Amino acid sequence: MTSLPKTDLWDHAQQILIQNDRGGYTIPTAGLYPYQWNWDSAFAAVGFAQFDIDRAWTEIETLFSGQWEDGMVPHILFHKPDPGYYPGHDVWGGIGPIPSSGISQPPVAATMARIIFEQDAEAGRARAEALFPKMLHWHRWFLKWRLDQGAVCVTHPWEAGRDNTPEWDGAMARIDPVGVGEYTRRDTTHVDGSMRPTKYDYDRYIWLVQMGRRLNWDQAALLKENPFRVADPTMTFILLRAHRDLLMMGQALGLDTGGMEDEIALLEAGAQSIWNPELGSFDGRDAHTGEWAGCVSNASFLNWYAGVPSDGQRAHLERVMDLVPYGVPSHDPSSDRFDSKRYWRGPTWAIMNMMIGLGLEDYGDPLGQRVREATRELITRFGFAEYYDPTDGTPAGGKSFTWTAAVWLAWAGKTEETN
Ligand code: GLC
Repeated sequence: MTSLPKTDLWDHAQQILIQNDRGGYTIPTAGLYPYQWNWDSAFAAVGFAQFDIDRAWTEIETLFSGQWEDGMVPHILFHKPDPGYYPGHDVWGGIGPIPSSGISQPPVAATMARIIFEQDAEAGRARAEALFPKMLHWHRWFLKWRLDQGAVCVTHPWEAGRDNTPEWDGAMARIDPVGVGEYTRRDTTHVDGSMRPTKYDYDRYIWLVQMGRRLNWDQAALLKENPFRVADPTMTFILLRAHRDLLMMGQALGLDTGGMEDEIALLEAGAQSIWNPELGSFDGRDAHTGEWAGCVSNASFLNWYAGVPSDGQRAHLERVMDLVPYGVPSHDPSSDRFDSKRYWRGPTWAIMNMMIGLGLEDYGDPLGQRVREATRELITRFGFAEYYDPTDGTPAGGKSFTWTAAVWLAWAGKTEETN
């Protein structure tokens, strides 16, 4: 890729990463998210790789320093306590080497590591070699504990990184958050409550955390008890892509990649299992009841990123892009559950756009360019927000956001012709 002329935006994006750097890891944004988040860090790394390759590797290494013995890499690492965030380690009771949450997040790290490795194959070789077995262990943790018909399930809405998407509505409605007790949210002290999940959602989030903790995050026990288990396009497509990238990195490094091709085939079958024929779209499927969520979301469009092209999905993408000026919306604007400002129920997220766009660009599909340009315009006009209202571009959530800055540096601020 060639960079557009290095503008103020480039400098600004770089400054955001530097300002959010807490020494070896990057926080998503000051105040609202004061710790290291898993997939945020993977995007931060590829952003850093554009101007400081050593720091890029360090970001991923710090993330893996929190890996649990069973292979899980937590969604939050609480490196230093911060009273401005709830729920902290005292609520989660994570059982790894660093205070942490008890769930994971979409495994984009191997994909971003591969991009960094390709930029730094010689100097970065030893670092890639050291990360490879850790990444494989993590991916295999998903394969061992999270599969349903080969698709990857989430066991908490936060695990998909798309906290309140309508995909979870059915599974959430079956939870009775009895005994959750009193707690004080902190998120709504940082940003307006209308842009955040509701109390109904929050009670269930916390109830699920309390259950995991009570079971000491024992996956076998959780598999039996947890009512929330949804086969999810985010996880399925991202793990499939990550496993392909990890395989390629392993081969380039001459490491043992035995079994990985079969695992990829299993995930490919899993991807087909989340195709909702009635909707004509990839969709969430409740693993307990088999019910479809009935959602065309931005995660539905990660299929190209995973190497799973689909004409039907492409038609939906064109349709939703035509409905709003600043796509890709996180939920179908023609759905009655669409809410243009509420987090994952409508707003546009730059990281999702980057993965959707990269996937389409892999296939030489001009829609990829359209997604990239929409993202570029959003950031140029409205800054580095956490997410945006797709109907008018209004920036929402946290400001000076790490992953939006990283998306600018690594993708949206570049032209695609030399990909
Ligand atoms: C929110 C997002 C999640 C992200 C985190 C930190 O919880 O939904 O995807 O990782 O914030 O940015």
